[in-house]
Amino acid sequence: MAELSDIAGRVFTDERYYNPNVPSFSELSKIGRPEIPFDQVREKGEPYAIRLKYGNEEFDRVKQQLIAAAKMLYGLNGKDRVHIEEIATMPFCTTNPIRVIVTINQNSRRTFYIKNSVPQRYYGKALYNILVPGKDINFRFSENGLIVDAVPGIVEAQHTADQRRALMNNSTYVDNLAKMNVFTNLVFLDDIAKNEGNLSVDDAKSIYLLDFDQAFRDGNYNLLEKLPPEKRQMLRSLVDIMRQERARIKEHALRNKQRLNALLDALSTEKDFDDFAWQRGSLDLGDLLRREFRKEGIEL
Ligand SMILES: Nc1ncnc2c1ncn2[C@@H]1O[C@H](COP(=O)(O)OP(=O)(O)O)[C@@H](O)[C@H]1O
Ligand SMILES: [Mg+2]
Repeated sequence: MAELSDIAGRVFTDERYYNPNVPSFSELSKIGRPEIPFDQVREKGEPYAIRLKYGNEEFDRVKQQLIAAAKMLYGLNGKDRVHIEEIATMPFCTTNPIRVIVTINQNSRRTFYIKNSVPQRYYGKALYNILVPGKDINFRFSENGLIVDAVPGIVEAQHTADQRRALMNNSTYVDNLAKMNVFTNLVFLDDIAKNEGNLSVDDAKSIYLLDFDQAFRDGNYNLLEKLPPEKRQMLRSLVDIMRQERARIKEHALRNKQRLNALLDALSTEKDFDDFAWQRGSLDLGDLLRREFRKEGIEL
């Protein structure tokens, strides 16, 4: 795994998102055995997660790592007791994150995920927190792994067809799609519009993004494509809502100017994104995003 570039390391240390003790995703995945083999999952009624089993000796080590990870993520101290309820793998996606359910001090139950540590994920989440007010994503990452608190609500892929249809007829949901659409377009976040495993919805019809793996890519950023064709004439009424969301993001971005600048400087050093930026007439991703932000009146 590549080391963090100096500037990225500095940025994320300051942001307190980086922590070298986040456990290794590939190691935890490698030594855990799924309770149901992946190729049999569909026959067994499609569980959304499959328990992982660890050998006794391994489990002690895994447990210590996960308890430390939970304490880090939830800001617990030495006296707090964390009990591991379940470790599972997520079968219906590309990278198979690990889901961990814990009980804290015998009374509160929390769920977090361990994922591979790719720049799209940690830059994507950090940008989300800097640009979109109100729903911060709680995460930490190291060179080897990324831990993130479960988002509220239910992942759309786990809705029934009826529930999904009802969503499309719910005006609060459609308004929220339009708002989220502003962010996905701003950071070129693909694989949300067409992938129901990558966002969740709560009872109030708030939408939460949970997969930033396809950020800064060519693709489809328009969440309103989720609407069936007969609903597309609603776009007219959503223009105002999107304008308001743009203004909200602009205000929040300007309030976080220093952090945003530091993050964009770090992104300018990430060579992996150079091709994407060059194709769009910019020097690097930091430069490209600055240009996009400027179009929105965000002068950094
Ligand atoms: N923060 C989260 N909150 C709730 N569920 C999550 C979260 N992260 C991942 N999941 C669950 O795990 C699945 C796979 O995670 P995801 O990040 O989409 O992996 P991949 O990048 O391989 O597609 C999601 O579809 C969702 O069911
Ligand atoms: Mg996904």
